[in-house]
Amino acid sequence: MRKKELIQYKTPFYCYDLELLSQTLDEAQTHAKKHDYHIHYALKANTNVRILNLIQSKGFGADCVSGNEVKKAIETGFTSNQIAFAGVGKSDEEILIGLENDIFTFNCESVEEIEVINELASQQNKVANIALRLNPNVDAKTHKYITTGLEENKFGINSWELEGLIEKLPSLTHIKVTGLHFHIGSQITSMTPFKNLCIRVNELNHWFLERGIRLEHLNLGGGLGIDYQSPTENPIPDFELFFGIFNQFLEPRPNQEIHFELGRSLVANCGSLISKVLYVKKGIKTNFAILDAGMTELIRPALYQASHSIENITSESTKLEFYDVVGPICESSDCFGKKIELKETKRGDYIKIYSTGAYGEVMTSGYNLREQNPVVYL
Ligand code: LLP
Repeated sequence: MRKKELIQYKTPFYCYDLELLSQTLDEAQTHAKKHDYHIHYALKANTNVRILNLIQSKGFGADCVSGNEVKKAIETGFTSNQIAFAGVGKSDEEILIGLENDIFTFNCESVEEIEVINELASQQNKVANIALRLNPNVDAKTHKYITTGLEENKFGINSWELEGLIEKLPSLTHIKVTGLHFHIGSQITSMTPFKNLCIRVNELNHWFLERGIRLEHLNLGGGLGIDYQSPTENPIPDFELFFGIFNQFLEPRPNQEIHFELGRSLVANCGSLISKVLYVKKGIKTNFAILDAGMTELIRPALYQASHSIENITSESTKLEFYDVVGPICESSDCFGKKIELKETKRGDYIKIYSTGAYGEVMTSGYNLREQNPVVYL
């Protein structure tokens, strides 16, 4: 976008490239379908309506983590039998929303939760399909805040609880165990953790079979990372490689369906955050480019030390300078990047922060009574 076009929009704003999204979705589906894999889109990454509509229209299922996400998925047109509902702390109200809608599966994270679902389903005269989210104790080698598959994490049922759970199952007459669910973490860029996951899933799948429990599906979760450093060179993740790893190392039983829950890899690169420079302030060792966007619009750098590619998209200078690119919020973590090389920057220039389509707009907050500006679509 040129400055002339940019000027009509109030900054900061999120901007989505729906063409890139469409290409990314097609690429993911093409490679998944080769192996007969099913992808549920993890709504938590972005619940923007136009994005959801496009994803739904391309035949993806939905992965939800709250009652409201289940409702939103249904409103968008995802069918109930395409909806998985995950989360360590589903409230009774949320479980009832899932039951009312006869969703594909509740991904259950504890024995206690399974007992509550059984009880609520019995009150509704229903049998709930559940998948057991197991903690595989596989290291995703990603940031510790988005690592979920280690025994020290709060997620999933641990292996030492399984015997007890199996003994209890016959008494839980209002649930049916239809699958196993795993999710080891997010922004995983090496394929090794996924290979290790397959090996562990094969063992667990076998363990259940030995005990006479036939599982209709295995859900391997999400987690495929994107290239935050070179988003324009690598806008679409390598889905062929990703699904190929599962095809190579996973050993499903005949007729066992394989599901995934991808969020970031589908939507991250189609979004950017556009912001205006309010001030350029001289520091002792650096210049600060102070933006009108802050951690209230994009919390990833402050929360996960994430680094997004940043560009001055309107400066016509040929000179390059280093800047600490920061937001206006009174917190030192409100910083998008230190020592970022930008074209010489001045007040009024427009700055593009790349790859913010996942966990960007959905994680904005009203801290400081900040305004939310309309979104722009390309
Ligand atoms: N399935 C489950 C059970 C999940 O917890 C998640 C993400 C996904 C699927 C989708 O994972 P993805 O494909 O997007 O990696 N806010 C953080 C990321 C949190 C991810 C939470 N779980 C960030 O901005 O990096």
